[in-house]
Amino acid sequence: MKKILSTGMLLLLATSALAGESGASLFANNCAVCHGESGKGGVGVPLALPDFQRQVSDEFLYTTIRMGRPGRVMPAFTRLSDEEVHKIIDYIRTLSNVKKPEHDPTPIHGNVEHGKQLFAQNCAVCHGDHGQGGKGTGVTFSRPRDLPILAPALNNAGFLAAATDSMIKHTLLEGREGTPMNPFKNKKVSDQDINDIVSYVRSFQKDLKPMQSANESLTMTAQANDTLENVVENIKRAAVGRNFRIIRVQYLDDGFQPEDKVSKKEVIVYFCNFDLLNTALAIDPRVGLFLPCQVTAYEQNGVVKVTSINPKRLSHLFNNNELDKLCDQMYQMYKDILDEATL
Ligand code: HEC
Ligand code: HEC
Repeated sequence: MKKILSTGMLLLLATSALAGESGASLFANNCAVCHGESGKGGVGVPLALPDFQRQVSDEFLYTTIRMGRPGRVMPAFTRLSDEEVHKIIDYIRTLSNVKKPEHDPTPIHGNVEHGKQLFAQNCAVCHGDHGQGGKGTGVTFSRPRDLPILAPALNNAGFLAAATDSMIKHTLLEGREGTPMNPFKNKKVSDQDINDIVSYVRSFQKDLKPMQSANESLTMTAQANDTLENVVENIKRAAVGRNFRIIRVQYLDDGFQPEDKVSKKEVIVYFCNFDLLNTALAIDPRVGLFLPCQVTAYEQNGVVKVTSINPKRLSHLFNNNELDKLCDQMYQMYKDILDEATL
């Protein structure tokens, strides 16, 4: 399990260290699992679609990759460097040979109330009454690939930050051939009707909740006033008291440590609660990389410290609403165990 755990951490945290990686390889490592090889689509919408590429600017792609779609499956890629994000965008552009649009931030003004009625009649069936998107994404990876492409969430901070009014208008007029998103230009709707719908979609912005912070530190640490042995016993007691089973306690040899880390004794306590494990895996299998739970106690320069991963930071990496709640619970749980172990 330790091996799996560190591989997961490496994948999540050290991708940016792989300098010089090509756009194709960055796409294969970060995007293809959901968007399919060559952007043909999977859990994520097909990015190679000519209509899509004709409608979205490089700025749209940049913001989407950076912010993701909070609460949906699409993660926020904060750990990639700007250079890497631009390489990915250039690679996406090679998947289709259509001309990309210029970024056009000119606002479109329409009648929000009328747009709301038109939205209820024409869009809600797929995008949800409040633009919350089709059901099925944001929960599991198990959707078979041959199911229809799900409608993205439009009342979404990531979408609204990335999309300009002009991009939304073009998407409505032209649709996306090859997906359920049909063009509206052939229907009996006026240009003003389209502007009204665009204004309604834009109005979702005022109801958005602020995004969870990316500034959370990666680990939490507390300092103990006791011997390493006692602190390890305290961690075990605190975990068992919260219905966890201790799986393993691993002692790291002093000689194991790099020489610059003077006399650092380290003990890792692994524990698990199968209800929590199953709940987490049902929401998003990537959570499996961080379970079982583990708390590390170590002695450095005569001081004993206890440390764990910060689940709130994971929550940001995963960018999934349901997972946010679970990560908040796990955060509180780790915090209590750290507090109790260092009392
Ligand atoms: C039959 C289902 C369906 C209907 C009806 C529909 N859409 Fe869509 N829409 C989709 C799907 C599916 C996609 C994703 C297409 C893709 O893969 O690129 C989409 C994409 C979009 C996008 C682009 C979102 C993004 O993330 O880039 C916008 C904007 C949009 N729709 C707005 C609307 C509006 C407004 C209406 C009503 C006027 C509407 N749609 C009607 C299914 C639908
Ligand atoms: C864990 C799965 C997953 C990964 C990994 C992922 N995406 Fe997505 N992506 C999605 C889903 C699902 C959507 C649709 C959002 C929705 O349903 O509201 C999406 C949406 C998008 C969109 C908006 C499409 C549109 O129609 O507007 C872009 C662009 C995008 N992803 C690019 C990327 C890139 C580039 C990467 C890699 C750096 C990536 N994604 C990685 C799942 C993923």
